Amino acid sequence: MPDPFQNSPSEVPTQEFERSLRPPDFDEFCGQAKVKERLMLMVEAAKQRGDALDHVLLCGPPGLGKTTLAHILARAFGSEIHITSGPQIEKAGDLAGVLTNLAHGDFLFIDEIHRLHPAIEEYLYPAMEDFKLDIMIDQGPNARSIALSLPKFTLVGATTKAGMLTRPLLSRFGITNRLDYYSPEELVTILKRSAHLIGIPIEEEGALEIGARSRGTPRIANGLLRWVRDYAQVRADNVITKDVARSALSMLEIDEDGLDEMDKRILEAVVYKYNGGPVGLNSIAVAVGEDEATINEVYEPYLILKGYLKRTPRGRSAMPLAYTKLGLNPPSSPEEQPDLF
Ligand SMILES: Nc1ncnc2c1ncn2[C@@H]1O[C@H](COP(=O)(O)OP(=O)(O)OP(=O)(O)O)[C@@H](O)[C@H]1O
Ligand SMILES: [Mg+2]
Repeated sequence: MPDPFQNSPSEVPTQEFERSLRPPDFDEFCGQAKVKERLMLMVEAAKQRGDALDHVLLCGPPGLGKTTLAHILARAFGSEIHITSGPQIEKAGDLAGVLTNLAHGDFLFIDEIHRLHPAIEEYLYPAMEDFKLDIMIDQGPNARSIALSLPKFTLVGATTKAGMLTRPLLSRFGITNRLDYYSPEELVTILKRSAHLIGIPIEEEGALEIGARSRGTPRIANGLLRWVRDYAQVRADNVITKDVARSALSMLEIDEDGLDEMDKRILEAVVYKYNGGPVGLNSIAVAVGEDEATINEVYEPYLILKGYLKRTPRGRSAMPLAYTKLGLNPPSSPEEQPDLF
Protein backbone atom coordinates (compact mmCIF):
# COMPACT_ATOMS: atom_id res chain seq x y z
CA MET A 1 0.00 0.00 0.00
CA PRO A 2 1.37 3.47 -0.77
CA ASP A 3 2.53 5.08 2.43
CA PRO A 4 3.04 8.83 2.24
CA PHE A 5 4.72 8.91 5.63
CA GLN A 6 7.43 6.35 5.25
CA ASN A 7 8.23 6.49 1.57
CA SER A 8 7.97 10.13 0.69
CA PRO A 9 10.50 11.11 -1.94
CA SER A 10 11.45 14.02 0.31
CA GLU A 11 14.78 13.65 2.00
CA VAL A 12 14.03 14.83 5.53
CA PRO A 13 13.23 11.89 7.80
CA THR A 14 9.62 11.79 8.94
CA GLN A 15 10.35 12.48 12.60
CA GLU A 16 12.42 15.50 11.83
CA PHE A 17 9.77 16.77 9.45
CA GLU A 18 7.12 16.37 12.15
CA ARG A 19 9.22 18.15 14.72
CA SER A 20 9.79 21.07 12.39
CA LEU A 21 6.03 21.54 12.05
CA ARG A 22 5.23 21.25 15.73
CA PRO A 23 3.52 24.39 17.03
CA PRO A 24 5.75 25.83 19.79
CA ASP A 25 3.02 27.49 21.86
CA PHE A 26 -0.71 27.56 22.58
CA ASP A 27 -1.25 30.39 20.08
CA GLU A 28 -0.08 28.30 17.17
CA PHE A 29 -1.78 25.14 18.39
CA CYS A 30 -5.04 25.03 16.50
CA GLY A 31 -8.23 23.28 17.62
CA GLN A 32 -8.91 21.26 20.82
CA ALA A 33 -10.39 24.46 22.25
CA LYS A 34 -11.65 22.98 25.51
CA VAL A 35 -8.48 21.12 26.37
CA LYS A 36 -6.39 24.13 25.46
CA GLU A 37 -8.44 26.49 27.59
CA ARG A 38 -8.24 24.17 30.59
CA LEU A 39 -4.50 23.69 30.29
CA MET A 40 -3.86 27.42 29.87
CA LEU A 41 -5.92 28.08 32.97
CA MET A 42 -4.01 25.47 34.97
CA VAL A 43 -0.71 26.99 33.88
CA GLU A 44 -1.80 30.47 34.85
CA ALA A 45 -3.10 29.37 38.24
CA ALA A 46 0.02 27.41 39.11
CA LYS A 47 2.24 30.25 37.99
CA GLN A 48 0.29 32.72 40.16
CA ARG A 49 0.73 30.45 43.15
CA GLY A 50 4.38 29.91 42.36
CA ASP A 51 3.64 26.19 42.50
CA ALA A 52 4.47 23.24 40.26
CA LEU A 53 1.82 22.38 37.68
CA ASP A 54 -0.52 19.50 38.60
CA HIS A 55 0.04 16.23 36.80
CA VAL A 56 -1.63 16.15 33.39
CA LEU A 57 -3.02 13.22 31.42
CA LEU A 58 -3.48 13.56 27.67
CA CYS A 59 -5.34 10.88 25.79
CA GLY A 60 -6.61 10.30 22.30
CA PRO A 61 -5.80 8.53 19.03
CA PRO A 62 -2.32 8.80 17.45
CA GLY A 63 -1.25 12.01 15.74
CA LEU A 64 -3.68 14.43 17.38
CA GLY A 65 -1.10 16.42 19.31
CA LYS A 66 -0.40 14.79 22.69
CA THR A 67 3.38 15.03 22.45
CA THR A 68 3.06 18.50 20.97
CA LEU A 69 0.92 19.66 23.89
CA ALA A 70 3.36 18.22 26.42
CA HIS A 71 6.13 20.33 24.91
CA ILE A 72 3.90 23.41 24.73
CA LEU A 73 2.97 23.01 28.39
CA ALA A 74 6.56 22.73 29.54
CA ARG A 75 7.50 25.74 27.51
CA ALA A 76 4.56 27.81 28.77
CA PHE A 77 5.68 26.96 32.26
CA GLY A 78 9.31 27.69 31.52
CA SER A 79 10.28 24.16 32.56
CA GLU A 80 12.70 21.57 31.36
CA ILE A 81 11.03 18.48 29.88
CA HIS A 82 12.39 14.95 30.28
CA ILE A 83 11.01 12.37 27.90
CA THR A 84 10.47 8.67 28.36
CA SER A 85 7.79 6.09 27.65
CA GLY A 86 5.99 3.22 29.37
CA PRO A 87 7.86 0.43 27.59
CA GLN A 88 11.22 2.13 28.18
CA ILE A 89 10.86 1.85 31.95
CA GLU A 90 11.45 -1.83 32.46
CA LYS A 91 12.59 -1.99 36.07
CA ALA A 92 11.98 0.03 39.22
CA GLY A 93 15.62 1.10 38.91
CA ASP A 94 14.90 2.70 35.53
CA LEU A 95 12.12 4.75 37.09
CA ALA A 96 14.36 5.71 40.01
CA GLY A 97 17.00 6.85 37.53
CA VAL A 98 14.54 9.04 35.67
CA LEU A 99 12.96 10.52 38.79
CA THR A 100 16.18 11.30 40.61
CA ASN A 101 17.38 13.19 37.56
CA LEU A 102 14.57 15.74 37.82
CA ALA A 103 15.01 19.24 39.21
CA HIS A 104 12.35 21.26 40.98
CA GLY A 105 9.53 22.21 38.59
CA ASP A 106 10.72 19.93 35.78
CA PHE A 107 8.29 18.07 33.56
CA LEU A 108 8.45 14.32 33.09
CA PHE A 109 6.68 13.18 29.94
CA ILE A 110 5.75 9.50 29.92
CA ASP A 111 4.44 8.51 26.51
CA GLU A 112 2.30 5.36 26.20
CA ILE A 113 1.80 5.44 29.93
CA HIS A 114 -0.73 2.59 29.67
CA ARG A 115 2.17 0.30 28.90
CA LEU A 116 3.88 0.85 32.25
CA HIS A 117 4.37 -2.39 34.12
CA PRO A 118 1.92 -2.66 37.06
CA ALA A 119 4.81 -3.21 39.49
CA ILE A 120 6.39 0.05 38.29
CA GLU A 121 3.11 1.89 38.59
CA GLU A 122 3.16 1.11 42.31
CA TYR A 123 6.35 3.08 42.66
CA LEU A 124 4.90 5.93 40.71
CA TYR A 125 1.96 6.54 43.06
CA PRO A 126 3.91 7.91 46.05
CA ALA A 127 6.19 9.76 43.64
CA MET A 128 3.20 11.56 42.12
CA GLU A 129 1.41 12.16 45.41
CA ASP A 130 4.08 12.87 47.99
CA PHE A 131 7.18 13.24 45.82
CA LYS A 132 8.74 10.26 47.53
CA LEU A 133 10.26 7.14 46.16
CA ASP A 134 10.52 3.99 48.26
CA ILE A 135 12.79 1.54 46.58
CA MET A 136 13.97 -1.87 47.66
CA ILE A 137 17.65 -2.49 47.40
CA ASP A 138 19.42 -5.82 47.72
CA GLN A 139 17.67 -9.14 47.99
CA GLY A 140 17.05 -11.84 50.56
CA PRO A 141 18.01 -11.10 54.16
CA ASN A 142 19.82 -7.89 53.16
CA ALA A 143 16.81 -6.47 51.39
CA ARG A 144 15.82 -3.08 52.71
CA SER A 145 13.81 -0.20 51.47
CA ILE A 146 15.17 3.29 51.23
CA ALA A 147 13.04 6.39 50.91
CA LEU A 148 14.21 9.14 48.60
CA SER A 149 12.75 12.62 48.55
CA LEU A 150 12.06 13.88 45.08
CA PRO A 151 11.81 17.45 43.83
CA LYS A 152 8.30 18.64 43.04
CA PHE A 153 7.78 17.74 39.41
CA THR A 154 4.92 17.56 36.91
CA LEU A 155 4.12 14.28 35.29
CA VAL A 156 2.57 14.54 31.84
CA GLY A 157 1.23 11.18 30.72
CA ALA A 158 0.10 10.44 27.18
CA THR A 159 -1.94 7.45 26.08
CA THR A 160 -3.88 6.26 23.09
CA LYS A 161 -5.79 3.93 25.38
CA ALA A 162 -7.13 5.68 28.46
CA GLY A 163 -9.32 2.62 29.04
CA MET A 164 -6.24 0.56 29.78
CA LEU A 165 -5.03 2.80 32.62
CA THR A 166 -5.60 1.39 36.07
CA ARG A 167 -8.01 3.20 38.38
CA PRO A 168 -5.34 4.13 40.93
CA LEU A 169 -3.16 5.69 38.25
CA LEU A 170 -6.06 7.56 36.67
CA SER A 171 -7.08 8.94 40.02
CA ARG A 172 -3.64 10.44 40.57
CA PHE A 173 -4.08 12.74 37.62
CA GLY A 174 -6.16 15.79 38.29
CA ILE A 175 -8.14 15.84 35.08
CA THR A 176 -8.21 13.73 31.94
CA ASN A 177 -7.73 15.69 28.75
CA ARG A 178 -9.22 13.86 25.83
CA LEU A 179 -8.21 15.04 22.38
CA ASP A 180 -10.76 14.75 19.58
CA TYR A 181 -10.41 14.37 15.84
CA TYR A 182 -10.08 17.76 14.11
CA SER A 183 -12.66 19.30 11.81
CA PRO A 184 -11.74 19.81 8.13
CA GLU A 185 -11.66 23.60 8.79
CA GLU A 186 -9.17 23.17 11.64
CA LEU A 187 -7.05 20.95 9.44
CA VAL A 188 -7.11 23.63 6.75
CA THR A 189 -5.66 26.12 9.26
CA ILE A 190 -2.98 23.61 10.26
CA LEU A 191 -2.19 22.80 6.62
CA LYS A 192 -1.82 26.46 5.68
CA ARG A 193 0.56 27.00 8.56
CA SER A 194 2.59 23.89 7.63
CA ALA A 195 2.65 24.86 3.93
CA HIS A 196 3.95 28.28 4.90
CA LEU A 197 6.68 26.67 7.01
CA ILE A 198 7.84 24.34 4.25
CA GLY A 199 7.58 27.16 1.73
CA ILE A 200 4.92 25.96 -0.70
CA PRO A 201 2.01 28.18 -1.74
CA ILE A 202 -1.35 26.54 -1.08
CA GLU A 203 -4.83 27.63 -2.10
CA GLU A 204 -7.74 27.37 0.33
CA GLU A 205 -9.43 24.74 -1.84
CA GLY A 206 -6.24 22.76 -2.14
CA ALA A 207 -5.95 22.73 1.64
CA LEU A 208 -9.57 21.60 1.95
CA GLU A 209 -8.97 18.68 -0.41
CA ILE A 210 -6.10 17.50 1.77
CA GLY A 211 -7.91 18.27 5.03
CA ALA A 212 -10.97 16.25 4.02
CA ARG A 213 -8.83 13.17 3.43
CA SER A 214 -6.79 13.42 6.62
CA ARG A 215 -9.05 11.44 8.96
CA GLY A 216 -9.28 14.36 11.35
CA THR A 217 -5.59 13.94 12.16
CA PRO A 218 -2.89 16.63 11.88
CA ARG A 219 -0.10 14.07 11.50
CA ILE A 220 -1.85 12.57 8.48
CA ALA A 221 -2.62 16.04 7.09
CA ASN A 222 1.06 17.02 7.32
CA GLY A 223 2.16 13.70 5.81
CA LEU A 224 -0.20 14.16 2.86
CA LEU A 225 0.90 17.76 2.46
CA ARG A 226 4.45 16.58 2.10
CA TRP A 227 3.47 14.21 -0.67
CA VAL A 228 1.33 16.82 -2.45
CA ARG A 229 4.22 19.29 -2.22
CA ASP A 230 6.47 16.80 -4.02
CA TYR A 231 3.79 16.21 -6.62
CA ALA A 232 3.26 19.95 -7.16
CA GLN A 233 6.99 20.39 -7.60
CA VAL A 234 7.44 17.66 -10.18
CA ARG A 235 4.12 17.56 -12.02
CA ALA A 236 2.66 21.06 -11.57
CA ASP A 237 3.68 24.66 -11.00
CA ASN A 238 4.78 24.36 -7.40
CA VAL A 239 1.44 25.62 -6.13
CA ILE A 240 -1.08 23.42 -4.34
CA THR A 241 -4.41 24.06 -6.02
CA LYS A 242 -7.53 21.95 -5.70
CA ASP A 243 -6.70 20.01 -8.87
CA VAL A 244 -3.10 19.44 -7.91
CA ALA A 245 -4.17 18.12 -4.49
CA ARG A 246 -6.79 15.85 -6.07
CA SER A 247 -4.42 14.36 -8.62
CA ALA A 248 -1.67 13.89 -6.07
CA LEU A 249 -3.96 12.18 -3.59
CA SER A 250 -5.56 9.93 -6.15
CA MET A 251 -2.08 8.55 -6.84
CA LEU A 252 -2.01 7.43 -3.20
CA GLU A 253 -5.38 5.72 -3.59
CA ILE A 254 -6.91 7.67 -0.75
CA ASP A 255 -10.59 8.21 -1.49
CA GLU A 256 -12.73 11.26 -0.86
CA ASP A 257 -13.66 10.14 2.63
CA GLY A 258 -10.02 9.68 3.59
CA LEU A 259 -10.18 5.89 3.44
CA ASP A 260 -7.07 4.16 2.17
CA GLU A 261 -6.30 0.67 0.92
CA MET A 262 -6.11 -0.85 4.38
CA ASP A 263 -9.43 0.63 5.47
CA LYS A 264 -11.06 -0.85 2.42
CA ARG A 265 -9.45 -4.21 2.98
CA ILE A 266 -10.79 -4.22 6.52
CA LEU A 267 -14.31 -3.43 5.31
CA GLU A 268 -14.04 -6.06 2.58
CA ALA A 269 -12.91 -8.67 5.07
CA VAL A 270 -15.83 -8.01 7.41
CA VAL A 271 -18.40 -7.83 4.63
CA TYR A 272 -17.25 -10.57 2.25
CA LYS A 273 -15.30 -13.00 4.39
CA TYR A 274 -17.37 -12.78 7.53
CA ASN A 275 -20.74 -11.96 6.05
CA GLY A 276 -20.93 -8.56 7.72
CA GLY A 277 -19.83 -9.83 11.12
CA PRO A 278 -19.77 -9.87 14.03
CA VAL A 279 -16.16 -10.94 13.75
CA GLY A 280 -13.28 -10.77 16.22
CA LEU A 281 -10.38 -8.38 15.85
CA ASN A 282 -7.90 -11.24 15.50
CA SER A 283 -9.76 -12.73 12.53
CA ILE A 284 -9.78 -9.34 10.81
CA ALA A 285 -6.08 -8.96 11.50
CA VAL A 286 -5.29 -12.31 9.91
CA ALA A 287 -7.54 -11.60 6.93
CA VAL A 288 -5.87 -8.28 6.08
CA GLY A 289 -2.32 -9.13 7.20
CA GLU A 290 -1.92 -6.26 9.68
CA ASP A 291 -1.31 -6.53 13.40
CA GLU A 292 -4.21 -6.33 15.81
CA ALA A 293 -2.96 -3.31 17.74
CA THR A 294 -2.59 -1.21 14.58
CA ILE A 295 -6.07 -2.11 13.41
CA ASN A 296 -7.47 -1.44 16.84
CA GLU A 297 -5.72 1.88 17.46
CA VAL A 298 -5.20 3.35 14.03
CA TYR A 299 -7.81 2.09 11.58
CA GLU A 300 -10.83 1.08 13.60
CA PRO A 301 -11.51 4.27 15.59
CA TYR A 302 -11.99 6.26 12.41
CA LEU A 303 -14.09 3.57 10.71
CA ILE A 304 -16.29 3.49 13.79
CA LEU A 305 -16.43 7.27 14.11
CA LYS A 306 -17.55 7.58 10.51
CA GLY A 307 -20.17 4.86 10.88
CA TYR A 308 -18.67 2.10 8.73
CA LEU A 309 -18.19 -0.38 11.55
CA LYS A 310 -19.59 -0.88 14.98
CA ARG A 311 -18.23 -2.71 17.96
CA THR A 312 -20.53 -5.26 19.53
CA PRO A 313 -19.84 -7.60 22.45
CA ARG A 314 -19.37 -10.40 19.91
CA GLY A 315 -17.02 -8.54 17.60
CA ARG A 316 -17.08 -6.00 14.79
CA SER A 317 -20.05 -5.64 12.48
CA ALA A 318 -20.39 -3.83 9.18
CA MET A 319 -22.83 -0.92 9.11
CA PRO A 320 -24.88 -0.04 5.98
CA LEU A 321 -22.27 2.59 5.03
CA ALA A 322 -19.64 -0.14 4.68
CA TYR A 323 -21.77 -1.88 2.06
CA THR A 324 -22.38 1.37 0.20
CA LYS A 325 -18.65 2.11 0.23
CA LEU A 326 -18.00 -1.26 -1.41
CA GLY A 327 -20.71 -0.59 -4.00
CA LEU A 328 -23.14 -3.10 -2.49
CA ASN A 329 -26.68 -2.81 -1.19
CA PRO A 330 -26.83 -3.05 2.58
CA PRO A 331 -28.73 -6.10 3.79
CA SER A 332 -32.23 -5.01 4.68
CA SER A 333 -33.84 -7.89 6.54
CA PRO A 334 -32.86 -8.80 10.09
CA GLU A 335 -32.14 -12.38 8.90
CA GLU A 336 -29.31 -11.00 6.85
CA GLN A 337 -27.94 -9.03 9.77
CA PRO A 338 -28.19 -11.37 12.74
CA ASP A 339 -26.50 -9.05 15.23
CA LEU A 340 -29.47 -6.68 15.12
CA PHE A 341 -31.42 -8.98 17.43
N1 LIG B 1 -3.26 21.35 17.02
C1 LIG B 1 -2.25 21.24 16.17
N2 LIG B 1 -1.88 22.27 15.39
C2 LIG B 1 -0.88 22.13 14.51
N3 LIG B 1 -0.16 21.01 14.33
C3 LIG B 1 -0.47 19.95 15.07
C4 LIG B 1 -1.52 20.01 16.04
N4 LIG B 1 -1.61 18.82 16.64
C5 LIG B 1 -0.67 18.05 16.09
N5 LIG B 1 0.02 18.70 15.15
C6 LIG B 1 1.08 18.16 14.31
O1 LIG B 1 0.85 16.76 14.15
C7 LIG B 1 2.02 16.01 14.37
C8 LIG B 1 1.70 14.89 15.34
O2 LIG B 1 1.44 15.41 16.62
P1 LIG B 1 1.95 14.68 17.95
O3 LIG B 1 3.27 14.03 17.71
O4 LIG B 1 1.88 15.66 19.05
O5 LIG B 1 0.82 13.58 18.11
P2 LIG B 1 0.60 12.51 19.28
O6 LIG B 1 -0.80 12.69 19.75
O7 LIG B 1 1.68 12.63 20.29
O8 LIG B 1 0.73 11.14 18.50
P3 LIG B 1 1.20 9.68 19.06
O9 LIG B 1 0.04 9.10 19.80
O10 LIG B 1 1.48 8.90 17.81
O11 LIG B 1 2.40 9.89 19.90
C9 LIG B 1 3.08 16.98 14.91
O12 LIG B 1 4.09 17.05 13.97
C10 LIG B 1 2.41 18.33 14.96
O13 LIG B 1 3.15 19.22 14.18
MG1 LIG C 1 3.24 11.35 20.72
